[in-house]
Amino acid sequence: MSAHIHPGILSADFVNFERDFATISTADSIHVDVMDGHFVPNLTFGLPMVRRMQEITKLPLDIHLMIDRADEQALPYADLGVDSVTFHAEASEDIIKLARRIRAAGAKAGVAVKPGTPLDEVLGSLNEFDMVLVMTVEPGFGGQSLIESTLEKVARAAKEIARIGSAVRLQVDGGIDLTNIERAAERGADTFVAGSAVFSAVNRAHRIQELRLLANRGRHQAE
Ligand code: DX5
Ligand code: ZN
Repeated sequence: MSAHIHPGILSADFVNFERDFATISTADSIHVDVMDGHFVPNLTFGLPMVRRMQEITKLPLDIHLMIDRADEQALPYADLGVDSVTFHAEASEDIIKLARRIRAAGAKAGVAVKPGTPLDEVLGSLNEFDMVLVMTVEPGFGGQSLIESTLEKVARAAKEIARIGSAVRLQVDGGIDLTNIERAAERGADTFVAGSAVFSAVNRAHRIQELRLLANRGRHQAE
């Protein structure tokens, strides 16, 4: 499985998404952080903005919901026709039921865990998901440093995915940059969100390419 790079738009210009999306057209997907100011202490945008984003890019949208009451709030995003909807395990009463509803609506279903949340519940039902997101920072803000200990969770998830032969993708999000993406890939991650690392670059296409090369190198070493 080759590495996928998903630029995180928290570091983009919020009033110039059309211009900024054009600079990352070589990415595999666009990672869209939806925050409600409650599940995390930051607020971004909601459904109307995501709907509009779909109109200004051909790239798939990878929606990361950092919002409370995911069981009630996640479905409308899947109904928009986005590629994937990832909700937080901490914000759902029944992660399997919600994932099934997201899939039934035609989107891929992802489940995310914060650095302090155990993986057991998720690893016990891997086939219910298309993507597992192991947060490598506390969710809420872009531009933070990766928490090294979270890579142990990545390795554990990767082992279980390999053991059962699941096709689920393993995403890391937060603080991913040129210095650590290879290491995250060696631990088994295959899908990489990079916000500030991409948007701080003068040549974003080149940065995406650099990140992809390093990630694929790490993945080969892991195999
Ligand atoms: C954090 C978000 C991340 C973040 C990534 O809550 O979920 O997607 O924006 O940005 P960087 O790569 O700058 O940490
Ligand atoms: Zn995110």
